[in-house]
Amino acid sequence: MNYELPKGSRLLNKEFTYGVATSSFQIEGGIEDRLPCIWDTFCATPGKVKDGSNGDLACDHYHLWRDDIALISSLGVDAYRLSIAWARVMNKDGSLNQRGVDFYINILDELKAKNIKSFVTLYHWDLPQHIEDQGGWLNRNTAYLFQDYADKLSKAFGDRVYSYATLNEPFCSSYLGYEAGIHAPGLTKKAFGRQSAHHLLLAHGLAMQVLRKNSPNSMNGIVLNFTPAYPLTDSPADQRAAQLADDYFNQWYIKPVFDGAYPDSFALLADEDKPVIEPGDFDIIKAPLDFLGVNFYTRTVYRATEGRDFIEVDMADAPKTDIGWEIYPQAFTDLLVSLHQKYKLPPVYITENGAAAADQLHNGAVDDQLRLSYYQSHLNAVHQAVEQGVDIQGYFAWSLMDNFEWAEGYLKRFGIVYVDYNSQQRTVKNSGLAYKNLISNR
Ligand code: FCB
Repeated sequence: MNYELPKGSRLLNKEFTYGVATSSFQIEGGIEDRLPCIWDTFCATPGKVKDGSNGDLACDHYHLWRDDIALISSLGVDAYRLSIAWARVMNKDGSLNQRGVDFYINILDELKAKNIKSFVTLYHWDLPQHIEDQGGWLNRNTAYLFQDYADKLSKAFGDRVYSYATLNEPFCSSYLGYEAGIHAPGLTKKAFGRQSAHHLLLAHGLAMQVLRKNSPNSMNGIVLNFTPAYPLTDSPADQRAAQLADDYFNQWYIKPVFDGAYPDSFALLADEDKPVIEPGDFDIIKAPLDFLGVNFYTRTVYRATEGRDFIEVDMADAPKTDIGWEIYPQAFTDLLVSLHQKYKLPPVYITENGAAAADQLHNGAVDDQLRLSYYQSHLNAVHQAVEQGVDIQGYFAWSLMDNFEWAEGYLKRFGIVYVDYNSQQRTVKNSGLAYKNLISNR
């Protein structure tokens, strides 16, 4: 088993960084040693998570981290992308919780000892509940609390971190969490979605200031997700629908970061939905970045409709992964090339890409053909984007191992390593073995 790339591809250079990714809430467990976060509350609310599960144990990484790093090392990857649980490292009074900080310092030191670069994300959606109780991302002050957390933590970590990302996918935190209500904290108001997005972006810019000061030698940036929007037909109405959807779900989060402005379609928002923006906010938000992290899984197709800007079309006959997301690798190349054309990008890292599959463990192996072919076609798509001039320097598989998939609970498996949740045994899937081969054969 191996993934094939064209001879001479930049993706076959030793300098190209290959990694695996996880996030704190999805794998750690260890809730006895941290404050509650919004996902604990959301999981405890009936009907929010499909299998009624929670993050209390997850992959028990809190206790198994040393074995998990040995596993990461056995895959031969160059880098590991993890996130920090804010509620583990900060006390309610705003002081550092040294026990939590030490948990991550031990991980960072172990990674360094194994020659694995650490890509640390400061916020992968697990806001401390006591901050949500003060309004969460609807409260402007949360952006300043985030800056303070980033400041204290980056001082405590010293020079251990290879790369910091401020936020993971602010689209999900704001739109899914405060506007569509399908993620924590589960609020449902358009104005909330827009206001929380603005405060998240502000938090990003404020955190960049302290990271630059405290950790000048690390590569500091942000991780954004993109679901490219395609029109159902070439009709001007469908094309406009797709463009408005693209603005709303994608450009909304990147344009402020690079251009210091929201997309023009901001003007279409009703006055009561417009976020409060203070003078100077965009100067903070558009702080220069050392890298942009891009997460990609799928595309969405839209058409025009009466009375709304756009409506999503279900591509009923298209190939899909186990979570129902269309497999459409061309959108990955198109996305990367279009971002490169629209913005003055720093080096790009693919910080997440992967597929959910209904994996079965048979005789100690998982033959995950769907995921193998997904990775093959998407690595090719990245290669194509490089050929078209996009400066892409790394690629992370989502995920290292099966884990708590948010509103889907444990029902969807994204790992290149299989997790038996009863025994906590890990088994490298065939997609993971192929990844290992690709990396070691460069
Ligand atoms: C992304 C998230 C990640 C994981 C994948 C499948 O949106 O960043 O935590 O859930 O989707």
